[in-house]
Amino acid sequence: DFMKEISGFSLIEQHLKDKLQLDHAIVVPGNSDDHDWVKQDLGKACVQYLKSILKQKQTVAVTGGTTMAAVAEMIKPFPGANKCMFVPARGGLGERVENQANTICVEMAKKVHGEYRLLYVPDPISEEAYQSIIGEPSIKEVLEIIRDANIVIHGVGDAVTMAKRRKASHHILQKIIDGHAVSEAFGYYFNEEGKVIHKVRTVGIQLEDLYKANCVIAVAGGKSKAKAINSYFKQGKGNVLITDESAAKELIRGF
Ligand code: G3H
Repeated sequence: DFMKEISGFSLIEQHLKDKLQLDHAIVVPGNSDDHDWVKQDLGKACVQYLKSILKQKQTVAVTGGTTMAAVAEMIKPFPGANKCMFVPARGGLGERVENQANTICVEMAKKVHGEYRLLYVPDPISEEAYQSIIGEPSIKEVLEIIRDANIVIHGVGDAVTMAKRRKASHHILQKIIDGHAVSEAFGYYFNEEGKVIHKVRTVGIQLEDLYKANCVIAVAGGKSKAKAINSYFKQGKGNVLITDESAAKELIRGF
């Protein structure tokens, strides 16, 4: 069954933990580049892990993306979850509605009968709009909850793929290409060494808030994401990876 297949990868998981310096790694069978059911299994594994760590009254911040949408699809009520709060990790990043953090946040909260707060910020956002939005009392209140989240769950993407999907301007796309950005997570683009190349100007969790969370879970699979996953963990703020067999094997093999 599902759990048995997961435990069959314990050796790979140990390798991943050592290589990426993680507290915990979970590997599901297959390659999510090729099959949607693998992405759903990533979602299932993430929900199972969340269930094992989530305590009553905690706050869970989530990002957008198709992998996070699979997490929301797979979540079911579990004890204590109804006493928790779900929030989007950051404001708009240019994703279509079904892949937005707000949408995923509401779905997760509703399914577990938990609470939620949303961020209503337009994207892309100008410097002036940004400054006035963060001064709004209603936004400020939500931002405080977000930045104090106990658990952060997010996707990781290939930098150029994500910039194009979010219809980044020519100028930004060029910045990402020229800077050799490899990965993207919550609107930050990182190079191979984990250095920030570009950051989408929006409100919400900042990289430096991550150290406050008890648990920062990356959910990302597919052979095509191996380099991105490696790059993301170089900046050293995440501590849990939920991935698939193909990405894991590629990560261990090295580049
Ligand atoms: O932030 C990372 C991206 O949102 C990943 O998106 O799960 O659709 O590949 P994805």
